[in-house]
Amino acid sequence: MRKPVVVGNWKMNLTLGQAVLLAREIRLRLGTYDSVEVGVCPPFPLITAVQAVLSDTKIGVGAQNMHYERNGAFTGEVSAEMLKSIGVKYVIIGHSERRKYFGETDEGVRKKLGTALDYGFVPILCVGETLEEREAGKENDVVVKQMESALEGFSSTHLHNLIIAYEPVWAIGTGKTATPETAQSMHSIIREFLMKKFGASFGYSIRIQYGGSVRPENISGLMVKEDIDGALVGGDSLNGERFAEIVMRSGTAKGGK
Ligand code: PGA
Repeated sequence: MRKPVVVGNWKMNLTLGQAVLLAREIRLRLGTYDSVEVGVCPPFPLITAVQAVLSDTKIGVGAQNMHYERNGAFTGEVSAEMLKSIGVKYVIIGHSERRKYFGETDEGVRKKLGTALDYGFVPILCVGETLEEREAGKENDVVVKQMESALEGFSSTHLHNLIIAYEPVWAIGTGKTATPETAQSMHSIIREFLMKKFGASFGYSIRIQYGGSVRPENISGLMVKEDIDGALVGGDSLNGERFAEIVMRSGTAKGGK
């Protein structure tokens, strides 16, 4: 059985004080909730403060990005070693906003994934097509190509911690969630790809999150689908009450408490 996993991506939001308040609210609402694995990814400067609030819970704290090099002259970048030294659990890799605004390539995504695996993080690898690609009927090819290129050269042993996040770009921050059927169809393509490339039991074990305008109102319909194992939540992860609702409805949809 795959344990459902819901992770909040706070993106470039919140000050220190606001982040601590949000973390406290999440702790209060989800600190002892066990049916779903829960994580939050604050901006870099806020990570340690959020960890301090969540330290006596199972809620994991992650980063939204990192560099693939160990260290050195890369002004403005953050390394895996730094993140490891502060106890980060998840690293989001290849988010579409990184690909779009910061020129991240498939090659860069692959390198980051390699570094994240070497350091023992739980990588959340983001894939997803744009509206243009979907309208041209290329969505399956685009996503499979992103998967192929990101996972090239890795073995299933190396990748055992991997989480995939299917995030159609047209659904992110737009309020236009993919229908459960649209999402399930892509999730099953992703799982088939993993099974074919790395073996059936590996493909079966990997958790695939959906991301893109996930709300308390639409999460249950998504989570009852066979291949949807969780969510990567942007906007609604900034509201403790709504985020907790998303987590708990995910658990209920999968038969938990
Ligand atoms: P959203 O963002 O929930 O605000 O659409 C999702 C994401 O980018 O991970």
